Amino acid sequence: MIIAIDGPAASGKGTLGKRLAHHYGYRHLDTGVIYRAVAYALMSEGADLKDEARAVAAALELDPEKFGNPVLKTQKVGEAASVVSAIARVREALVNFQRQFAADPPGAVLDGRDIGTVICPHADVKIFVVADPRVRARRRTLEARARGEEADEAAVLADILSRDERDQNRPIAPLKPAPDAYLLDNSNLDIEGGVRAAIDIVEAVRAGRQRV
Ligand code: DC
Repeated sequence: MIIAIDGPAASGKGTLGKRLAHHYGYRHLDTGVIYRAVAYALMSEGADLKDEARAVAAALELDPEKFGNPVLKTQKVGEAASVVSAIARVREALVNFQRQFAADPPGAVLDGRDIGTVICPHADVKIFVVADPRVRARRRTLEARARGEEADEAAVLADILSRDERDQNRPIAPLKPAPDAYLLDNSNLDIEGGVRAAIDIVEAVRAGRQRV
């Protein structure tokens, strides 16, 4: 089974993806990390983020062993990832990696922006996670502070809003729910509540299928 989870920055889709994968014994891919890794490769080389040829080369040379580098989670790299991910050829270079990950047994949960619409349009279950931008900014600020980083909530909110705007309005693979995605608004849910709601969705889809 393939479960696609999409949603905006700081919606909690990453944690949700990880928890769902754990629950079902599936593998998990946070696809944002892929774009972050490409952006970070360019930043480390001192290259321009809009240098298409270098960005494509970095996308083709991805090393999953480096996905755990904590620097990838920083706001600066996230901003850069949003720029790099708007390049069509970069996205194309990353399609096969993601589809292969999804296809490998026993099943997979992928979270990102275009999993249900572009990468896995035939995913068994699609969930689109949303949350009020102010709630997302609050959560991201608390997470950053817990890691010992300084974070200004107003600046985090501005970053979230500008990334939403860029991710939703780019011409290729914009952030939007697939027509057959289930909407999960977790503004008023804690992590456990969100996980339960997502499991309920997956189980409802499975039960519906068995009845057919
Ligand atoms: O989910 P995230 O914050 O780690 O994503 C970082 C950036 O990568 C985000 O601004 C848009 C981009 N991204 C994308 O375009 N497609 C995906 N499937 C995942 C992330």
